[in-house]
Order: sequence, then structure tokens, then C-alpha cells
Amino acid sequence: MLFANAGRGLGRDFLHQAFGEWQRVIDTNITGTLRLVQVIAQQMSARGKGKILITGSIAGLIPGTYQAVYSGTKAFLDSFSVALRHELKDSGISITCLMPGATETEFFRRADMLDTKVGSMKKQAPAEVAQSGYSALIDGDEKVVAGWKNKIQAFMTNVLPDSALAEMHTKQASPGSANH
Ligand SMILES: NC(=O)c1ccc[n+]([C@@H]2O[C@H](COP(=O)([O-])OP(=O)(O)OC[C@H]3O[C@@H](n4cnc5c(N)ncnc54)[C@H](OP(=O)(O)O)[C@@H]3O)[C@@H](O)[C@H]2O)c1
Repeated sequence: MLFANAGRGLGRDFLHQAFGEWQRVIDTNITGTLRLVQVIAQQMSARGKGKILITGSIAGLIPGTYQAVYSGTKAFLDSFSVALRHELKDSGISITCLMPGATETEFFRRADMLDTKVGSMKKQAPAEVAQSGYSALIDGDEKVVAGWKNKIQAFMTNVLPDSALAEMHTKQASPGSANH
């Protein structure tokens, strides 16, 4: 089994994000994840079995205003994991995408988002998210959105236009939104 979970976020507006900061997000979330997945999946392929859980996010379903680079990396992973799953469908390797919503971890502090609404609100317990991901991995599911509130949010992304989703995200993630 491989749990490709390492990742980092980055808040604030893109024009004020340093090149090295957003490059690190892309390098970790996309390049690092793909490098790891490829090397391990090649070994699994030689054995004819394996299970891989890739941590994407419901953030990948939403144009993530004030978190634009991060959300783009998660859109990449949400898409990549389903595509790879279907490439590998006859290989004995199963790929599952875990799509959490806001979760109580170090993520928002590291992303400099503690002054945002999403960064300061009560969030889902990480053990619940991990349990959802593990169960889906064992069952060989294509993807799992962790928690019923996030399932509703994920459903809404199919209904609302991207512009409305981006404006809703502003309310959650813009700097200082914790106090509004
Ligand atoms: N928290 C949320 O609301 C949320 C929502 C959706 C998806 N996610 C995703 O969940 C995953 C885990 O994040 P988290 O919420 O648990 O945040 P976290 O508490 O900040 O943990 C991030 C984890 O990634 C590891 N990591 C970061 N950069 C790394 C690198 N270059 N090489 C190796 N390991 C690295 C960290 O290791 P160290 O501690 O050793 O640095 C840590 O174990 C990420 O992919 C994130 O995008 C989080």
C-alpha cells in the first residue's frame, strides 16, 4: 500500500505570493506525489498487486480564490488519480482518491491562513478523514469525499457556476475573513 498524502497549502493573493512559495506547493503536491506514485506503482506492477491512496481534495472542485495555486494542484491530483486508476485497471493495482474538506491539522497554520474564516472555524477531525480514506482504499473505491457536509459541498460544485463557487471561496479564504 502507498499513502501519497504529503502536501502543503498557500493562502493570500497570488500577486503577493513569493515565487519560491508557490513553486514549493507545486513541487510537493504535484511533482513529489507523481514521482513517488510512479516509482512505487512500477514496483507494484511487477508484483501484480498493490493499493494506492492519493490525497486530493474537494478544493480541486472549486476555483480556490486566495488559495489559487493550491486548489489547482488538488484539481490536478483529483483528475490524475482517476485517469491512472483506469490506465491500471488490469494491473492488479487499485488507485483511490481521498478528497477531504477542511480538516483540523497543521495545514492552515503552515499555509498562513489562520486569519481566514476557513482557517479559524471548527473543522473535521483528522481521524475521521483518515478512516474514510482507509476504508475506501481497502474497498478499492475510485474516490471518497470525507464526511456528509463535504459530500453536500462536492455535490454543489456540479450545480453552481464556477464564478459563484469562486466568490463563495473568497468569503472563506480571503485574508482577514475570520473577523467578518
Ligand atoms: N487540512 C485540510 O483541511 C485538508 C483538506 C483537504 C486536503 N488536505 C490534504 O491532506 C494532506 C495532508 O495535509 P494535512 O492537512 O495533514 O496538513 P499538515 O498537518 O500540514 O501535514 C502535512 C504533511 O505533509 C508532509 N509534507 C509536507 N511537505 C513534505 C515534503 N516535501 N516531503 C515529505 N513530506 C511532506 C508533512 O510532513 P512534516 O510534518 O514532516 O513536514 C506532514 O506530514 C495534504 O495533501 C493536504 O493538501 C488537507
